[in-house]
Amino acid sequence: MIVATAPGRVNLIGDHTDYTGGLCFPMAIDRHVEVRGEPDADSGAVTLATDGHPAATIPLDVAEPALVEPAWARYVAGVVAQLRPATGFRGAVHSTLPEGAGLSSSAALEVAVALALGADAGDPVALAKLCQAAEHAARGVPTGLLDQLAVIGGVAGHGLLLDCRAVTSRPVPLPPPDEAEWLVVFTGPRSLADSGYSTRVAELAAAAELIGPIRDADETAVATLADPVLRTRARHVVTENARVRAFADALVAGDVAAAGALMNDSHRSLSRDFESSTPRVDGLCADLAATSGVLGARITGGGWGGCVVALLRPGAVAPAAFAQAWTVRPAAGARVEHDG
Ligand code: GLA
Repeated sequence: MIVATAPGRVNLIGDHTDYTGGLCFPMAIDRHVEVRGEPDADSGAVTLATDGHPAATIPLDVAEPALVEPAWARYVAGVVAQLRPATGFRGAVHSTLPEGAGLSSSAALEVAVALALGADAGDPVALAKLCQAAEHAARGVPTGLLDQLAVIGGVAGHGLLLDCRAVTSRPVPLPPPDEAEWLVVFTGPRSLADSGYSTRVAELAAAAELIGPIRDADETAVATLADPVLRTRARHVVTENARVRAFADALVAGDVAAAGALMNDSHRSLSRDFESSTPRVDGLCADLAATSGVLGARITGGGWGGCVVALLRPGAVAPAAFAQAWTVRPAAGARVEHDG
């Protein structure tokens, strides 16, 4: 029996930086997707059952992952198309990760499937890139490497300082649970395909044409951009990269109040400069930030809805105060076991 497990992730700071080679700071969380099954030499397909959805049968020569039904299996098809395993597989997917809630259930599914199908777990960067390509094929949105690197590289008790240009990941210890905790509040479904995500990727590429790689730019270079839209988008990325570094430094120094303040600043930048928030999410972040014991709150992930992440003194806000919210803990990354 092969058992492959991959956690979800929440990005604590550093959004819309990954696809410009910037910095991000996610953590893998204590909820995961598990793929359990056996190689199946005869079927020429990957067949997976799952709770609450029709089962999927993906031929090993699947050509168009984005057209596969049922829709959840497009991510499986994307992985099959990238990996082209020689042998089929039969098993089941089980998940404790809320689906479509902005916690990277798709990246967790991709990574767990890839490991179950025999992808090399010893090369995390190649595995992340393979799963990113699978995601692009499944969904058609030019997402970066943040989700896959976080899901693969997670370390219990730590966040990850990701450099998406060098493609490196440095574990940074997070405050112990008796000092601070992480609350994720889901504000409602969103589709990256219908959001401004691809437009933002294009705007930042246009800004980079004019001032060079955004990763190397400073605010003076950004100020030379004549187009006010390109200028504010690039300003978000330049200031966000600086906030990611400052956030990691604050955590290393044990200064959770400073880390929380940087999360509030990040939210303001995403809302005003990047315009990837919504009035509802802005209202939630403002309410949280004004609550006693809340150190910081920000929109997290792709944006235009989805999730807010908050850094709290333990128990300052109960998840039960919201329709869908979870206290999440920093967990280990993906793994595969051959059992029996
Ligand atoms: C989504 C994408 C990531 C990243 C974030 C924004 O989660 O999948 O690659 O761009 O949005 O930081």
